[in-house]
Amino acid sequence: MIKRRAFLRNGVLGAGALLVSKYSSFAWAASAGAGSKIEILPDEPLGMISANLYGHFAENLGGVIYDGIWVGQNSSIPNIDGIRKELVEHMRTIKAPVIRYPGGCFADSYDWRDGIGPADRRPRRTNFWEGVETPNSPKTHKYDPNQFGTNEFIHFCKLIGSQPYLAANLRSLPAEEFYRWVEYCNSPAGSTTLADTRAAAGYADPFQVRFWGVGNESWGCGGNFTAQEYAVEFRRFTTWVPHFGQELSFIASGPNDDSWEWTRSFLEEIVRKGPGQLPSIYGLALHYYAWNLSRGRTRDWNTGKGDALKFDDVDWYELFRQGDVMESLITGHWQIMGEVDREHQIKLVVDEWGPWYRPGSEMTPGDILEQTPTLRDAVFSAMTLDIFNQHPEKIAMANCAQLINCLNSLYLAHEDKFCVTPVGHVFAMYSAHQGGQSLRTLFSAPRVHYDRDGKPASFAGLKGSASLHDKVLVLTVVNPHVSETCDAEVAIPGAAIKSGTAITLAASDLHAHNSFDQRDVVVPLTKALENRKPVLTYLFPAASVTKLTLTLE
Ligand code: AHR
Repeated sequence: MIKRRAFLRNGVLGAGALLVSKYSSFAWAASAGAGSKIEILPDEPLGMISANLYGHFAENLGGVIYDGIWVGQNSSIPNIDGIRKELVEHMRTIKAPVIRYPGGCFADSYDWRDGIGPADRRPRRTNFWEGVETPNSPKTHKYDPNQFGTNEFIHFCKLIGSQPYLAANLRSLPAEEFYRWVEYCNSPAGSTTLADTRAAAGYADPFQVRFWGVGNESWGCGGNFTAQEYAVEFRRFTTWVPHFGQELSFIASGPNDDSWEWTRSFLEEIVRKGPGQLPSIYGLALHYYAWNLSRGRTRDWNTGKGDALKFDDVDWYELFRQGDVMESLITGHWQIMGEVDREHQIKLVVDEWGPWYRPGSEMTPGDILEQTPTLRDAVFSAMTLDIFNQHPEKIAMANCAQLINCLNSLYLAHEDKFCVTPVGHVFAMYSAHQGGQSLRTLFSAPRVHYDRDGKPASFAGLKGSASLHDKVLVLTVVNPHVSETCDAEVAIPGAAIKSGTAITLAASDLHAHNSFDQRDVVVPLTKALENRKPVLTYLFPAASVTKLTLTLE
């Protein structure tokens, strides 16, 4: 391991079958992390990585929809039928597979009928979030104009090539309105009055919406139910929903982080009517935000949060420590689900995840829940996606919270200004995993040790995941160390590497981030790997995310 600052220079990897030539700007050294090894096991497939693990979440909240996605047809900002063009283009390149909308907590207050029909006749409503908006919030937030509704959302998805995932209101609308929303979206052209209404808006063909959330956080903002009460509601809402020939996949409101009891009680109540109820549930939604950076001092939601931009090395590691919890939540809830659902017919849907900081880093003042993602959030996001890749049999979908102008956003936008955040770059790099066969991958590297307010703490030296796509192997790796590179051998027993490329996201400053004025502070850099010897060694820069794309013989 070598100090980061001392090696901010061009350099070469020494002996390496795939020799990496010059790599400017980042910390390289020949012998750092000696003895580190990444072993990819082609004989141990873990399952196919669903593209939907790379999903998104766009809630009608702050600047996400209005200003972020929707700029309006008459805007001077380049748009496609009112939808921000630059956003659509970027989302196409990352192969965004699925988008959840309209919430979040907003979903359980939303009347989908407000957002259909001629735009100039749609009702203006009180902003659901008005209680937390600030006096300087942009006026586009003051009232809800309902200009972006079901039609516009589906159009947005179609422009990108994403599947829609609609979250239905279980708290404040009756089940009948859920059925009607399904009817509006999915009934064939000319078949129902709602299909005619859809056609009158220019959408004769059914939207074919498959994914439906049945409430959101029903243990909290979605109705404050007990798990048993919610299970009864879930059965009622999902019984006899018209299908119109479209497979419907219902996603139940699941636990908040480690609320094991919610998972157990919900499923026990569901099967009180018999195990035949289980197939009615496609996924159980797990929400997990990494927010507590208090180093164990408090569990208070407000005082426990950290700052998005101002942090020290310990805060850097503490965020990853929080992020690491995701894996134990996946395996823990999965085990409990198996107690009731022995054949694991129900999968996990992690439809809200990401770091959540205290207010203060908003790029657009007044945008509630907006934060500025840094290199730290890129490393965090990469680690989380690697965790998902390693559990492909358990997770059917995951949705980063949230797409734009919000928590762990891929993009920030305001009026005509736009930038891709370091998180957006990670999604671009990791899209190569979609549809691949996940392979068991073993990482062995010296652990990172740090001082957690007088108590010793440590973190894995390297983390990552690998997937195989015919003859192409995609390996993603994070080196979380704030200052030391890690030189690791990459071994693939039984396989030989023909050629490869490396893409790395790193920066000399842990706090580095992109902004409207400086859009390219943190950008991935690509290098070809040179094949010289039978063993690949790679020097992973400090505080970095790397993707190696290796073509096998
Ligand atoms: O993502 C922001 C909010 O966090 C969502 O509205 C809610 O579901 C969660 O608590």
